[in-house]
Amino acid sequence: AEKSVYRASTTAPVNIAIIKYWGKRDLALNLPTNSSLSVTLSQLSLRTLTTASSSAGYSGDSLTLNGKPQDIQSSKRTLACLSHLRSLRQALESVDSSLPKLSGLPLRIVSENNFPTAAGLASSAAGFAALVRAIADLYQLPQSPADLSRIARQGSGSACRSLMGGYVAWRAGSLSDGSDSIAEEVAPVSHWPEMRAIILVVSAEKKDVSSTEGMQTTVATSSLFPVRVQTVVPSRMDSMEAAIRNRDFSAFAEITMRDSNSFHATCLDSWPPIFYMNDISRAAVRLVHDINRASSKTVCAYTFDAGPNAVIYYLEESSELVVGTFKAILGEDINGWHGPFGDRLLSVTEG
Ligand code: PMV
Repeated sequence: AEKSVYRASTTAPVNIAIIKYWGKRDLALNLPTNSSLSVTLSQLSLRTLTTASSSAGYSGDSLTLNGKPQDIQSSKRTLACLSHLRSLRQALESVDSSLPKLSGLPLRIVSENNFPTAAGLASSAAGFAALVRAIADLYQLPQSPADLSRIARQGSGSACRSLMGGYVAWRAGSLSDGSDSIAEEVAPVSHWPEMRAIILVVSAEKKDVSSTEGMQTTVATSSLFPVRVQTVVPSRMDSMEAAIRNRDFSAFAEITMRDSNSFHATCLDSWPPIFYMNDISRAAVRLVHDINRASSKTVCAYTFDAGPNAVIYYLEESSELVVGTFKAILGEDINGWHGPFGDRLLSVTEG
């Protein structure tokens, strides 16, 4: 029995923020300067599948992503997640001696994304969420999703929001140990079944400024940033939660677009300035405003993370108008990338 293999598999979806996390108040623990809110995408479109196993027969901890071995030892964030999970398992083993001593065994973690990892599609959020949940399942930890979100947060801040479905808030918290910096479900997907999203894959290239590096530059140098953190975001969190509660698409859309613009404005206001959006991103912004103006109401919204790809939210009833217009106007205007989806407009919601 010494060489038994213990195993657990799980999946975690990508999430896209509608109120952005940008800025760390603690680099080691990934504690944010502000709360954020996201929509969890369908697992059918963008998710990570992870299998974690433990065995005395393994020679050391290992992690494989899409078939490629990763260097765990140089990733402080991965090591932090593993040691946290191991200590929780150890606590279980110390009170129940009949449990196999998995905490002392090497771990083998194998992850696959069902989407192109290099395409700037928030892969780290799904990746760390799946890693944490797979190991928590393997270790049969009793911790709740909120507890696990505290661990996933140390892998990648946005990962804490991928442990829950639907509309998820990450409460910044105020404690220095991060114990109150956790994710919380605001509403399940079923609360708003008409919600749809597509991703306009503008570029498959890796972002040139990593989010950690970009955040540090912004926190240290932008004069717009303190206003965003202290007044803009807190009031938007409240209005966004109300918009979701009331299924008020027009409010949801306006706050989403304004918050994306505010985040990218603090990037431009950083020194040296940081650019994540490009000409095609800006064309998508104009197109959304054109569609909304022509419709005399808000039928779609854009948001951009630390890269040029646009996520467009809309309701099922506006599907033909929004997707059709994007296809017709931007469909042929995007250089270079032909994804496995055969389309640069990636549908990322159910229905
Ligand atoms: O979780 P990170 O460190 O990759 O940062 C994500 C930052 C944004 O995607 C730009 C915003 C967010 O809230 O997800």
